[in-house]
Amino acid sequence: MIRLDKALANIGYGSRNEMKRLIKSGRVRVNGEVITNPTVHIQEETDELMIDDKPVTYQKYFYFMLNKPAGVISATEGRDTTVIDLIDENIKGLFPCGRLDKDTEGLLMISNDGELTHQLLSPRNHIEKEYYVEHSIPLSAYDVEMLENGISSGADNFRPAKYEKVSDHACRLVITEGKYHEIKRMFLAMGNQVTYLKRLRMKTLVLDPALKPGEYRPLKPEEVKALQD
Ligand code: URA
Repeated sequence: MIRLDKALANIGYGSRNEMKRLIKSGRVRVNGEVITNPTVHIQEETDELMIDDKPVTYQKYFYFMLNKPAGVISATEGRDTTVIDLIDENIKGLFPCGRLDKDTEGLLMISNDGELTHQLLSPRNHIEKEYYVEHSIPLSAYDVEMLENGISSGADNFRPAKYEKVSDHACRLVITEGKYHEIKRMFLAMGNQVTYLKRLRMKTLVLDPALKPGEYRPLKPEEVKALQD
């Protein structure tokens, strides 16, 4: 048996004091009954806990795939709406795995697993990130060569990218670094401009086409496993 506030804090929903306040405000149910006394003892393995009518799961790490909409920032807090604001779950400590620009759409993993996030973002691991890019000017053969061989422009150096033409004004690009505004800066270095950008894949994780911008879903166990391998 364990105190209700301690059980929730242990699972990672917040500090003991936060959990006391949460319980007192009547948002927690145990086996269907609202409990407002944080000192009530529960049976961790068998009692069913709910916060705001959502089941509490005894899980340490959580992984979500978000289709980031434009207009939302890749941060945990700020004056603008953040990607974390879009995740309607009672889970503390979630953060985005990397950053997409405010106007960029597409795949963003949201998790509280710092180790996996670090592995995926470490520049040393050269993790593939695939984007759908629309650009203002058609690319010349020379531009494509630059993209594929790596661009050096002033102080900017970009590693070689994999390029696949979609149309005169659109392509798919796979990059292996995660520099600030990387793709926009690559196109600027070619005298071109990105007019739309969407991330489609990170390593093995492919954006689920069923997710509309702003929607998310938990990762499947095999998707998590593939990212960890
Ligand atoms: N490159 C960019 O320029 N912006 C992004 O959001 C991601 C990659």
